[in-house]
Amino acid sequence: ALVSSTAMLTRAREEGYCIAAFNVHTLEMLQAVVEAAEEAEAPLILQSTVGTVKHLGASYMAAMAKVAAASANVPIALHLDHCHDDELIAECIKVGYTSVMIDASMHPFAENVERTRRVVELAARHDVNVEAELGKVGGVEDDLVVADADAVLADPTECEEFVRLTGVSTLAPAIGTAHGMYKGEPRIDFTRIGEIAVRVGVPLVLHGGSGIPLEQVKRAVSLGMAKMNVATELRIGFSDAIKQVFAENPDENDPRTYMKRAKAAVKSIALAKMSMCGCIGKA
Ligand code: 13P
Ligand code: ZN
Ligand code: NA
Repeated sequence: ALVSSTAMLTRAREEGYCIAAFNVHTLEMLQAVVEAAEEAEAPLILQSTVGTVKHLGASYMAAMAKVAAASANVPIALHLDHCHDDELIAECIKVGYTSVMIDASMHPFAENVERTRRVVELAARHDVNVEAELGKVGGVEDDLVVADADAVLADPTECEEFVRLTGVSTLAPAIGTAHGMYKGEPRIDFTRIGEIAVRVGVPLVLHGGSGIPLEQVKRAVSLGMAKMNVATELRIGFSDAIKQVFAENPDENDPRTYMKRAKAAVKSIALAKMSMCGCIGKA
């Protein structure tokens, strides 16, 4: 069965490694990251964005994840990524999601606290993990578009107050990473991660995982980041593999042929990310 992500993340924070959380959009992407996790003996967080829930339907997404979890030899959680719609959060919890992100970071602090608190109350009744965001992560993630100029870093004192006021079980503080690939290297504020981590005991979440170099991931994890979200690199790997199939054979018309290649590409990216996160063998 799907498990709440709280226990796996708490242990990761305590022991100083990070769980890779993958945004998937199709059955084959889901199967690819599940196979990677089983091979790596790593705990796994499957994620879907709001856009993907709308594309596939929450119950289909949950059903696929449940089938995977039923036969997997590693713990698997299913997480709803960046959602500010209370009704969709409630629907996802109802169909079996074991973790949700309430992203009210576009609202002023007090309102973010209030909205997050409401979700924490609902989630607590279902043993569901809650992640919230402080500051604003820049870049593009599905429907969520934050211009560089509007990206703001999280304030460490506010982070402490936010966790105390909301009782949230995981916190995603904006610390300089961005959704999508980077032009050059990301400019991560490591001092800020450290300042947040001494004030906040819950597992911290690193958004914008695509494109972060290994050394920077390791440093962020050593400072308290216990979950890393990866979306864009999987989509690129998946799509490039399919483009390659059609470049080689424009007449290809068997989804099983191109999906097999796409799945293999996603699996190898997932394994590389798990290795960066240090979660291999931690299941
Ligand atoms: P990337 O698209 O940069 O991997 O970011 C993923 C993410 O943060 C999803 O919430
Ligand atoms: Zn994100
Ligand atoms: Na990124």
